[in-house]
Amino acid sequence: METTVEIKEAGGKLGVLVVGIGGAVASTFIAGTLSVRKGVGKPIGSITQLATIRLGKRNENRFPKIKDVVPLAALDDLVFGGWDIFEENIYEAAEHAEVLKKEDLDVVKDELEAIRPMPAVFDRNFVKRLHGTHVKTTASRRTFTEQLREDIRRFKDENQCTRIVVMWAASTEIYIPQSMEHESLVAFERALDEDNTDVISPSMCYAYAAISEGAPFIMGAPNLCVDIPAIWELAEREKVPISGKDYKTGQTLLKTVLAPMLKTRMLGLDGWFSTNILGNRDGEVLDDPGSFKTKEVSKLSVIDTILQTDVYPELYGNIYHKVRINYYPPRKDNKEGWDNIDIVGWLGYPMQLKVDFLCRDSILAAPLCLDLVLFSDLALRCGFYGIQSWLSFYFKSPMHDPDHVPEHDLFIQHTILKNTLRRIIGEPTLDYLD
Ligand SMILES: NC(=O)c1ccc[n+]([C@@H]2O[C@H](COP(=O)([O-])OP(=O)(O)OC[C@H]3O[C@@H](n4cnc5c(N)ncnc54)[C@H](O)[C@@H]3O)[C@@H](O)[C@H]2O)c1
Repeated sequence: METTVEIKEAGGKLGVLVVGIGGAVASTFIAGTLSVRKGVGKPIGSITQLATIRLGKRNENRFPKIKDVVPLAALDDLVFGGWDIFEENIYEAAEHAEVLKKEDLDVVKDELEAIRPMPAVFDRNFVKRLHGTHVKTTASRRTFTEQLREDIRRFKDENQCTRIVVMWAASTEIYIPQSMEHESLVAFERALDEDNTDVISPSMCYAYAAISEGAPFIMGAPNLCVDIPAIWELAEREKVPISGKDYKTGQTLLKTVLAPMLKTRMLGLDGWFSTNILGNRDGEVLDDPGSFKTKEVSKLSVIDTILQTDVYPELYGNIYHKVRINYYPPRKDNKEGWDNIDIVGWLGYPMQLKVDFLCRDSILAAPLCLDLVLFSDLALRCGFYGIQSWLSFYFKSPMHDPDHVPEHDLFIQHTILKNTLRRIIGEPTLDYLD
């Protein structure tokens, strides 16, 4: 097979360090992956574990599984660790998250109990609803980055890993706008040295430390974090892949399927009202207006780009788009998301579409975490670096080069993902006509 991209082998252990490892998403991801590799759980929702990829023309009938033709790290080679502001082990954390049943957790109880979070870098000004005790106490942002780098090196040594991937599955930080300190690496490092706590968030410390240690960084929340020119510059300099932001799991996943449907049929849109009830810790954090604003910006960005409101002003020139998240403890992790969509047909006649998605937040997010870890490691071994827009498929607010428009349409994102994999393994990329 002709290979166009030189791929380093996935030999040795891959360390997966999760920020917010005691949370619902992280513990569900880790417990599930351990269960799958024991042969008990099924990796439903994971492209790397289940999906096939068509190679060649349709009539050639070649549909191997992605994991059989793309050299991904094996699940047996993953070693988990990470940071949290609470010190309970991951078995206890998963019990508290109340996502997976005790019988499912008990399958991998020993392994989960052995995973203990490292003390976190935390600043209550960035996540107002949480009071963590398991935190690093140093006074300065620069020292935090040095301590995190030491954590990464120690974990790598102790577990004899050849590579590390760092993933953010911690709480959503308050909204901060991009400022001049974020515009270049020099300005960012000056702000780090001056301990400018207004503009350098804890998540930026993690990203800076990971990239400096050569570890790909994945941003699963909508935090500004890696989506600033300073960190793009660092990732380019260190030749490290970065991706984000905000896992696309529930309501936004549906939006990026329904909105392209409206556009391809040239149906109009007057309004889209989305509301959610959610009772887990994420819901509690998002009840704070500062954290909600970060999420809101991420959730709102989707429709305008897909519908090309400037190209079709008569169909999409005046859309009222509203997103709400309501903290409602009884539902725990089992979110319910409603959408009321006011659409317009022939001669301007109004119609309505209603969606009621009774989903499980962390059950939807866990397979994305696994895929993103494996694909980010693949990207590193392929020599890809900087923003990995081919992973847009997984994110609500896909990061993109400043001179590119982000792609939100799920099926276009899917084609980009698969064509990138074809390119990596030296197969011709496909269009739909072959
Ligand atoms: N589940 C989904 O469908 C979904 C989709 C998109 C994005 N997200 C995002 O993923 C993140 C995790 O969601 P969750 O439901 O697991 O939330 P969670 O509240 O259960 O978990 C977050 C964890 O992060 C920890 N934490 C907070 N700040 C930290 C810091 N500075 N360092 C280390 N740990 C820290 C908390 O203690 C907690 O254990 C949230 O930001 C959420 O918005 C989730």
